[in-house]
Amino acid sequence: MQTIRQLVSLRETIATLRGEGARIALVPTMGALHAGHIALIEAAKLVADKVVASIFVNPKQFAPGEDLARYPRREQADARMLADAGCAVLWLPGVEEMYPDGFATSITVSGVSEGLDGAARPGHFDGVATVVAKLFNQVGADVALFGEKDFQQLAVIRRMVADLNLPIEIISVLTQRDDDGLALSSRNIYLAPEDRARAVALPRALGVAARVIGQGGDAVQALATAREALLSGGFDTVDYVELVDAETLAPMPDPARPRRLLAAARIAGTRLIDNIAVEPIATT
Ligand code: PAF
Repeated sequence: MQTIRQLVSLRETIATLRGEGARIALVPTMGALHAGHIALIEAAKLVADKVVASIFVNPKQFAPGEDLARYPRREQADARMLADAGCAVLWLPGVEEMYPDGFATSITVSGVSEGLDGAARPGHFDGVATVVAKLFNQVGADVALFGEKDFQQLAVIRRMVADLNLPIEIISVLTQRDDDGLALSSRNIYLAPEDRARAVALPRALGVAARVIGQGGDAVQALATAREALLSGGFDTVDYVELVDAETLAPMPDPARPRRLLAAARIAGTRLIDNIAVEPIATT
C-alpha cells in the first residue's frame, strides 16, 4: 500500500492507475478504524480494481466544544489495517494540504442537512459536504462507499452528488454491529465498560420502535417509548428519536414509502447515533 500526503503525488498515482485501466473506489474515513471501515474496504474491492482510503480528521465538521482534539488518531495501526485489507493507496493529507491559507469555500446541502444531527450539530454537514466534495475531486474515483451508520450523512452526500452532477457513484454498506447489537463507531472507545454495556439500550430501543411502527402501531407513542427506554437504560440525554422518509429525511413520512428511524443520545459525555429501517406498510 502506498501512503501519500501531498496532492501532487496523489494525482500522479491516480493517473498511473487510470493508465492501467483501473476502476477506482474511494473509502473516506477519519481513521480510528474498526471492522465497520474494513467492511467498506471489502465492499469496495468487489466493485473496483483499486481501493483508495482516505484518513482526515476534518476540523470543519466539529463544532467548538466537540471532540476534535480528543478524536482518536492512530495512524500506524490504521495504515496496517488498510494494507492488510488490500487497500492500494492511503490518502493522508494534513490540514494545510486540505485547507490551505485563504480557503474560503463551504458547501451547504439544504433540506436533508437541516433536521436531526443538522439541528443538534449546527454546521456539521457543511463541513462534511465540503470535505467530501474535495476528497471526490482530489481522488477522482469512480465510486465511493459510505456506511449506513451515518444515515443522514449518506443522504446529504447523495443529494450533493446529484445536485452538483459529480461523476461518482455512491454505494452504501450496512451498519456493522457488535454481538450485542451496538453499532461499531470510532467513538465507542470513549465508553467505560459499564457505559458500553448500557449503550446497548440504543439499538434495542430502535429495534422495538421499528417493529411496532412497521406493524402499523402508533408512531408517536413508539417514539416516546423509545426515548423513555434510552433514559431508563442509562443514557443521560436524548437529542432525538425520529421517524423520517428514508430518502428525503422529511418527518411524518408516508407509511407506503421506505422509512427510517434515527436516534442520537448521550451516555457519560459520549454522543452515539444509530438508525434502523422501518418496513413500508403494504397497501392493497
Ligand atoms: O464518516 C466519516 O468518517 C466522515 O464524516 C467523512 C465522510 C470521512 C468526512 O470527513
